[in-house]
Amino acid sequence: METQIFKEKTYTLEILYHIGALEDSIHFIFDHQTKTCAIIDPAWEADLFIKIVTDKGYKLTDIWLTHWHFDHTNAVDELVEKTHAKVSVGINEVSYLQINTHPTTLKHNETIFIGNTAAKIINTPGHSAGSICYLLAGHLIAGDTLFVYGAGHCSLPGGNICELFHSLQKLKQIDDDIILCCGHDYGSKKVSTMGEQKRDNAFLLIDKESDFVNYVQGMQYGTISYPTTPMTYSQIMAML
Ligand SMILES: [Fe+2]
Repeated sequence: METQIFKEKTYTLEILYHIGALEDSIHFIFDHQTKTCAIIDPAWEADLFIKIVTDKGYKLTDIWLTHWHFDHTNAVDELVEKTHAKVSVGINEVSYLQINTHPTTLKHNETIFIGNTAAKIINTPGHSAGSICYLLAGHLIAGDTLFVYGAGHCSLPGGNICELFHSLQKLKQIDDDIILCCGHDYGSKKVSTMGEQKRDNAFLLIDKESDFVNYVQGMQYGTISYPTTPMTYSQIMAML
């Protein structure tokens, strides 16, 4: 199992890569002062996640979801049963969620906390109807909205290509030095900054909605291949 750890002022972010059948990335936010932990999109390995948190002397108190898809939520009920953690999800995602636990709903621009560590909610529909990203001091937890050199598909219920375009335009306003943390490790490298992605990610480089739709539909039809490496604007335009 590959992991990555980022030590920040008020929290430590730990990432587990390639977890479960769909190789999800699982994010833990450990708040230093209160010794509480939030896990983002727990799936596949509930007991492993509990062990990771308790071995450090922390308590798992919160489960933050970016979207409803099975591969991001299938350990939620077991974790709630075993830890009584509180589940939070974007308000527009509730009707799609397939878990037994009743969640707290989050709105755009709201700030939530794990201990003394703050996370701002950014509504980013497109990959799903109520996808959200969590912006912390130093990191963007983007779920499946934005990947390193890529972005999420829009082919499941609630997905919408035009909405994804506008959500990604919104994410371009995030500071360049923020580290992008994704729901899957689909790119040619695991870690990147928003500055690097704004410069080299095809889905962020396209600035016209109609071009974006053509690009994503081209992938759906198999005429354009999904990018995993840096792209230039002219390379993208040559494909359309
Ligand atoms: Fe997803």
